[in-house]
Amino acid sequence: MAAKDRYAVFGSPIKHSKSPRIHQLFAEQTQQTLEYTAQEVIEERFKMSVATFFKEGGKGLNCTLPLKELAWAYADSTTERADASRAVNTLALQRDGSILGDNTDGCGLIADLMVNNDISLKKKRILILGAGGACRGIIAPILEQSPQHLILANRTPQKARDLAVEFCISGDIEGCGFADLIGKRFDLIINATSASLADDMPPLPEDILAEAGICYDLAYGNRPTTFVRWGIERNASKSLDGLGMLVEQAAEAFYIWRKIKPETKPVIETLNAARRFAL
Ligand code: ATR
Repeated sequence: MAAKDRYAVFGSPIKHSKSPRIHQLFAEQTQQTLEYTAQEVIEERFKMSVATFFKEGGKGLNCTLPLKELAWAYADSTTERADASRAVNTLALQRDGSILGDNTDGCGLIADLMVNNDISLKKKRILILGAGGACRGIIAPILEQSPQHLILANRTPQKARDLAVEFCISGDIEGCGFADLIGKRFDLIINATSASLADDMPPLPEDILAEAGICYDLAYGNRPTTFVRWGIERNASKSLDGLGMLVEQAAEAFYIWRKIKPETKPVIETLNAARRFAL
């Protein structure tokens, strides 16, 4: 019997990764025979671990925190969207033996917002909290949807300003600090800070969410994140966490590797059913 095609996710910490389960569900659904594991890999071991994985016959990798920038630097070739985000979450072995780096995070977010949750971004006032790697990966795909404007607000304001300058050719974008948000209102607020992980919340003005506004946290967990709760408490019409985005970015990676696009809805439903709260 031929050996199963091997895939994996590298990251640190990786123990609680949902990716093996997601890819197992995709494989069952599309009747693909493959193996997908999670491997604890720290930055210092990244190059060696990736080289060994592909040398031993691995076909594709996902890279998560804190390895996405390293993966971008590692890949022999990269897609335009990976270069815009300077991060790679998907490495794929090519026929000629080279490694392609892509980033499916941005399109994963857009698919979850627009397809799964029926949220249009056109002409919307959008705020992203944060100016780190997670923020960088979603700016271009959001601007592509022609929002009215996009504001990046960060604890370190200069980082948000620099990022806005970098992307200003692609749309109406501005960077600032949290204090500069006073008096502004947004239809969609996306949390791309890592504050949720520490149960923390950026200091936002009380009336910043427009009526029927939407909150979206890129982070997710088995319980509502601090930011999701913040949105619920302010009557957001939807206050979502990033589980849907996680499944969507995985589906796009699966497509890159297997050239088959799995259905995401049943997988999101399965993962949601396993959580202790209803979204
Ligand atoms: P990631 O790749 O997840 O984006 P990162 O590049 O380290 O991680 O960026 C983390 C982001 O969360 C940054 O925007 C950071 O703000 P600073 O640039 O000022 O460091 C933001 N962040 C982290 N903890 C925060 C907190 N407690 N409150 C507000 N912002 C926070």
